[in-house]
Amino acid sequence: MNTTLKSLVLAAILMLPSSLIKAGEGMWLPLLLKSLNEAEMQSMGMKLTAEDIYSINQGSLKDAIVHFGGFCTSEIISPDGLLLTNHHCGYGQIQSHSTVENNLLKNGFWAQNKSQELANAGLTATLIDRIEDVTAVAMEGITSEMNSAERQSKIDRNLGFFKDDYELQSYQEIVIKPFYNGNQYFAFITTIYKDVRLVGTPPESIGKFGSDTDNWVWPRHTGDFSLFRIYAGPDNLPAEYSDDNKPYQPKHFLPISLDGVEEGDFTMVFGFPGRTNQYLPGSAVAQIKDVLNPARIAIRDKALKIIDGYMRADEKTRLQYASKFARVANYWKKWIGENQGLNKTNALAKKQKYEDDFQESCPPKYRDLLPQINNQYRKLEDHALAREYYREVAQRNIEIMRIVNMAKQMGRAFKKNGTKGYDEFVDRISPRLESFYKDYRPEIDQEVFAALSEMYVNTLGQKYSPAEFHTLQSTEDFEAMAAELYSNSVFTDEKRMNKVLFASAEVAIEKINNDPLYKLQSAWDSIYKDEIAKPYDAIQDRINILQRYYMQAQMETFPNKRFYPDANSTMRVTYGKVNGYSPKDAVTYNPVTYLDGVIEKYVPDDYEFDVDSKLLELYENKDYGQYTDTNGKVPVCFIGTNHTTGGNSGSPAIDAHGNLIGLNFDRAWEGTMSDINYDASICRNIMVDARYILFIIDKFAGASHLIDEMKLVRPKRGMAKSDKEMIPNKPNFDRTKLEQKSKIKKSQIKEYK
Ligand code: ARG
Ligand code: GLU
Repeated sequence: MNTTLKSLVLAAILMLPSSLIKAGEGMWLPLLLKSLNEAEMQSMGMKLTAEDIYSINQGSLKDAIVHFGGFCTSEIISPDGLLLTNHHCGYGQIQSHSTVENNLLKNGFWAQNKSQELANAGLTATLIDRIEDVTAVAMEGITSEMNSAERQSKIDRNLGFFKDDYELQSYQEIVIKPFYNGNQYFAFITTIYKDVRLVGTPPESIGKFGSDTDNWVWPRHTGDFSLFRIYAGPDNLPAEYSDDNKPYQPKHFLPISLDGVEEGDFTMVFGFPGRTNQYLPGSAVAQIKDVLNPARIAIRDKALKIIDGYMRADEKTRLQYASKFARVANYWKKWIGENQGLNKTNALAKKQKYEDDFQESCPPKYRDLLPQINNQYRKLEDHALAREYYREVAQRNIEIMRIVNMAKQMGRAFKKNGTKGYDEFVDRISPRLESFYKDYRPEIDQEVFAALSEMYVNTLGQKYSPAEFHTLQSTEDFEAMAAELYSNSVFTDEKRMNKVLFASAEVAIEKINNDPLYKLQSAWDSIYKDEIAKPYDAIQDRINILQRYYMQAQMETFPNKRFYPDANSTMRVTYGKVNGYSPKDAVTYNPVTYLDGVIEKYVPDDYEFDVDSKLLELYENKDYGQYTDTNGKVPVCFIGTNHTTGGNSGSPAIDAHGNLIGLNFDRAWEGTMSDINYDASICRNIMVDARYILFIIDKFAGASHLIDEMKLVRPKRGMAKSDKEMIPNKPNFDRTKLEQKSKIKKSQIKEYK
């Protein structure tokens, strides 16, 4: 190309509308945004600085982001500690407050005042006080001569000393985790609140609208949200539950935008993504796609078909198994989408190309690395398949195995502390046993057991199977064995089980040890440990070391490429744009759905697609209040290119100014392979539009007292009237609160331009 042409092409690229730039990949550490991301984020439209997002000197966005129960994300949306998360994140709590007479799942729940908010034993809300790079501390005294065990134990000791020396307040904790496959370490200083109460939830027909059929699917119409509140002691610090506790006064809470989004708008998602694997070699991705995912999918296919048959036949069964079915179906469906996406985007060919580039440019000392890793993955394959089978069959899908495992722990408690240890253990687990049996149907589980063990033996052969399975030939043999086991075991029947448990410890342990299911599980489990887990772990340890080198080697080889660490349940920021996509030939998706779509999907009395009469009425009367888009319709969900994963559920979607615009709860099916291979062409996260949440709280539930607590803003329309006040289109941080409640000096709080 001649120079004029080149500069013309360059100019053309620079002139592309910014919405065509498909940025989105990466889950970034808040503390590194300044150096790695700020410029790009601002070029995409963000009006904040990195310091506005993460600061240890003043209230910043991060002070509103809360790890919910350690498994989901939530955010503070009022000066009184009001917490927003997904319906599916609060599901367990909502369920635990539900009874047949007062079914919160079915009817929804809205506390009319603070005294009606419902306590949740064991539920925590974790705030991040600061993040520190402790890599230098971890690596002190590490030499290249050390083998990996020596290296790790030195790192552990270094970090142990660091933790011991770190001055924590009584209410703080410190967690240190490895990043970049163990090349870096970061410490997180946290404050954990222990009194978190349920404030409100829509009925399931809104919070779970579309259920499993729509799960992972775009276009989506689910109002997947619920509201909680953090309570604190008199000093605003964490306290155990008490009537005297007061609503927590946050350093920052998110204002909520009534202006919503349009295609091309900047979005940022802030939360606690669980686990990703972006830096696997192609050989490992191929193994997931061609060996492990098909196995997992086939096993769950079988289990789900059996459960589904029973659920369809009988309403009581449907209720008993709904949440178990949803759990099993969730990842079953995700893996199917993951494989489709990997195929559709030619992920393996792209990995190959990347690895070819790497081989060509890497320092010579790394040339042997990829062949070695590939070799280890080849060795791992049989063990990995067997491990997946065992875990799926014996640990995740045959329900009774969980009870057998508890019984094992009973035996251990008895061995360790005699009758006292046994009694204490039984006391502790009896609520769990009770809730297990409440929704347990042995005849269903027995059928699952027969089908999955047959599959297990047929796939893995006798080597990995307990002797009891060796003589079985036909499906009937497996069914007969299952019938025999399930009718003779104490575990499969609550009455038999209780009779055993409340006998003396000695008698109980004796009975348990002689139980046929206990014996089978024990034999199976020791085969797993010796024949599967042991060799698997040995190879995996080796792989982990090689992956650490490979990460280091990639960073050295491509010094201009930005690398983000894999998710590990620590606080991250991801950003992208509101953007539709094309899942298949001739199909293009818009990025926003509306209430009209809920009505289109409506199937009266259907357990997935029923619509509440109140919502139908609001729709018919177009009684939408201030919660409409510019087209006069109520938006429900939208998608963007933000790179999210499990754990990001409940994460806030934030606009260019720092306002809440949505609530993350899912990903589009074709893009679930973003856990191992993000591709901006089809990877989309799904969020509930903040205006749908407000509409449901205000218009559907009539809980306007909650709206009054929040701060609604109109950043796009400049001065515009909200229900309460005129809000200028500028600073969104609640200064007054900040100034009163924290020790931050006024001069430290700066304007956002
Ligand atoms: N797919 C979402 C998340 O992984 C939502 C799961 C809950 N909903 C359901 N229908 N199972 O994990
Ligand atoms: N529903 C997921 C969660 O529970 C989020 C969806 C995803 O995996 O991205 O965290």
